[in-house]
Amino acid sequence: MKRLGYYNGKYGPLEEMTIPMNDRVCWFGDGVYDAGPCRNYKIFALDEHVDRFFRNAAWLGVEMPLTKEEFKDLLNKLVHEMDSGDLFVYMQLTRAASVPRQHPYTEGPGSLWVTLNPAKIPDGRVPIKLITREDTRFFHCNIKTLNLIPAVMASEAAKQAGCDEAVLYRAPDRVTEGSHSNIHIIKDGTLHTAPLDNLILPGIARAHLLRACDALGIPYVEEPYTLDDLANADEILMTSSSNLCRHADQLDGKPAGMKDPETYDKILTWLIDEFTNETGG
Ligand code: PDD
Repeated sequence: MKRLGYYNGKYGPLEEMTIPMNDRVCWFGDGVYDAGPCRNYKIFALDEHVDRFFRNAAWLGVEMPLTKEEFKDLLNKLVHEMDSGDLFVYMQLTRAASVPRQHPYTEGPGSLWVTLNPAKIPDGRVPIKLITREDTRFFHCNIKTLNLIPAVMASEAAKQAGCDEAVLYRAPDRVTEGSHSNIHIIKDGTLHTAPLDNLILPGIARAHLLRACDALGIPYVEEPYTLDDLANADEILMTSSSNLCRHADQLDGKPAGMKDPETYDKILTWLIDEFTNETGG
């Protein structure tokens, strides 16, 4: 299969799958999701994604219909239905359907979704372009919920500006993260990244970046930093599961970063090595 969709036990070509109108995701975006890359039919960092997915479901009180082991078996089985083993693996759990529409939680097992689409990790050496946008999201950004409209709007603004990602900041100037990525800077050999609070998603690629820094002896601090810090950074890094790690050469139309390519290259090489080793060389 080229693109696969799974919904509550049924699966087939993504284009042919349909979902019931009373799925609460349609009314409230009531659910959680996770996503990560697969290479050579091996899902990268599978345990970390499944752990976060289950943790988020528990936070929102959505009942998971499978155990972690059953769910991992399901994902591995679905991946082997595909024509290519290089994929973006997307999983979603929405709260049990409610009829009629009602705001309070409904009881019962949630609806489980999986989509698989062909994808490859892009070349991290090719720089990306960023814009900045005020972070207008809610205060539960640490939970990977499906309420993504502010992120979608910021991402569209980046696209309209001919850029790859929007860097979000809470007024007046605290950088939080990207619309669908984490953002970090390198200054004088130290990596700076926003702390894990309710304003950012604890990215799995971010965790791997910090592991790379530990392994390479690169110091890092997890503290708030500002738009000025971003504009004056030696390097601006973006991490996400679909990209691993990228660096930027432009911010709001002006040249930015690209002043410490050696450190960036060391980090990127470590991350690519880890990814290729874990997914079969
Ligand atoms: N987005 N921050 C936000 C707001 C995100 O949406 C994402 C990922 C990240 C990076 O998390 P991770 O390293 O675990 O992928 C940070 C996914 C990929 C998406 O929405 O498609």
